[in-house]
Amino acid sequence: MAYSDKVIDHYENPRNVGSFDKGDDSIGTGMVGAPACGDVMKLQIKVNEAGVIEDAKFKTYGCGSAIASSSLVTEWVKGKSLDEALSIKNTQIAEELALPPVKIHCSILAEDAIKAAVEDYKAKHGNN
Ligand code: FES
Ligand code: FES
Repeated sequence: MAYSDKVIDHYENPRNVGSFDKGDDSIGTGMVGAPACGDVMKLQIKVNEAGVIEDAKFKTYGCGSAIASSSLVTEWVKGKSLDEALSIKNTQIAEELALPPVKIHCSILAEDAIKAAVEDYKAKHGNN
């Protein structure tokens, strides 16, 4: 299968790889797996006192499209509010990366991961 240039770029130069301390109050952690293929994605957000996501990191054990999707999402969420981050759709990710149909679930993994990270942050701060 041919990967798009954007997938290859994010795969070869992934942005924001790494992790934050899960126990830190300003961090939300989302960990999700794709039933279709067993790939796993961890995505973390760092939220400032104004409720704005100021940083994000990921670790993905998966295919090139999953790595590219998580890399892209960590770029997109920076500077966004939690609600704005929740509104990111996998279809936007798939479109930006020109993912073929068989790789759509990789972008769903990234949407699920950011949602899980926001929920984790909200749970820590008592407003679920
Ligand atoms: Fe597991 Fe994508 S099928 S890497
Ligand atoms: Fe399973 Fe990409 S996340 S093939």
